[in-house]
Amino acid sequence: MISRVAATRYVTPLREGGSLPGIVEADDLGTYVMKFTGAGQGRKTLVAEVVCGQLGRRLGLRVPELVRMQLDPVIGLSEPDQEVQELLKASGGLNLGMDFLPGSIGFDPLAYAVDSGEAGRVVWFDALINNVDRSWRNPNLLVWHGDLWLIDHGATMIWHHNWPGAAVSAAKPYDASDHALAPFRPDVAGAAAALAPLVTRGLLTEVTADVPDEWLVDEPGFDSTDAVRRAYVEALLPRAATIHERITLDAPSGPRPSQAPGWLTGRPGSRPHATGKSGTSGTSGQDGGR
Ligand SMILES: Nc1ncnc2c1ncn2[C@@H]1O[C@H](COP(=O)(O)OP(=O)(O)O)[C@@H](O)[C@H]1O
Ligand SMILES: [Mg+2]
Repeated sequence: MISRVAATRYVTPLREGGSLPGIVEADDLGTYVMKFTGAGQGRKTLVAEVVCGQLGRRLGLRVPELVRMQLDPVIGLSEPDQEVQELLKASGGLNLGMDFLPGSIGFDPLAYAVDSGEAGRVVWFDALINNVDRSWRNPNLLVWHGDLWLIDHGATMIWHHNWPGAAVSAAKPYDASDHALAPFRPDVAGAAAALAPLVTRGLLTEVTADVPDEWLVDEPGFDSTDAVRRAYVEALLPRAATIHERITLDAPSGPRPSQAPGWLTGRPGSRPHATGKSGTSGTSGQDGGR
């Protein structure tokens, strides 16, 4: 179950991506990146953030902690930017918060080396959720305290935009040639062997239970929010078992990894990966973000 907080102060917009998330303070003294229900991308983007973010964390990948964030649009009244004002006005009620990683920097494949095991786990995970937003042009990866963190899972699971065709869509292959970690010799077979058995009906039922009802109600073709949750489970479960056989990894077209020695990039080649636990150690409370 993800916890619930209330936004107390809008700090500043984040303009790198397309959806205009904002840095927001909350009543638990935490600082969060808030993703708004009123953004043009719609509520399914937030559903995808929850399903994939929680799934990734349960598979041992580093994804900042997620929270349900209550917004009273009144906190944006003094916001000078018209676009932000309108977004806040359109987003009263429940929104999504993600733990803000203070001082993190965007992943740069030329400056930061990733070992093939970690690259394989991330590529396999992105193939499972059909993430089209982790290319070398737009990696949606952050480096924080020397570790790689995964953000922005809004553009995943394309099948949830057309449920009648979901089974066919979820059976399709995944082209990882442009993936930000494609140049790091991802060990996809090793990742599949380690992670696919963890993706059980039970696990998927737990992560879909974290999606607030408010974002699932009135989905055409479904008579309950739990029926929508089951549809996510039915799409992901068979895909987990076989997707590694359908991942294309052609010669990467993006920047090559750095050949510079570790002492220069600040990155030892074979850093141990924190397995088993999700990335909750990275809460802003430990790093001055609260
Ligand atoms: N948890 C976080 N901690 C620090 N910075 C973040 C975090 N999440 C997002 N950002 C910053 O905000 C930018 C936009 O966030 P993102 O989730 O990619 O939204 P969009 O849907 O707009 O692409 C990211 O590129 C990154 O620079
Ligand atoms: Mg993004």
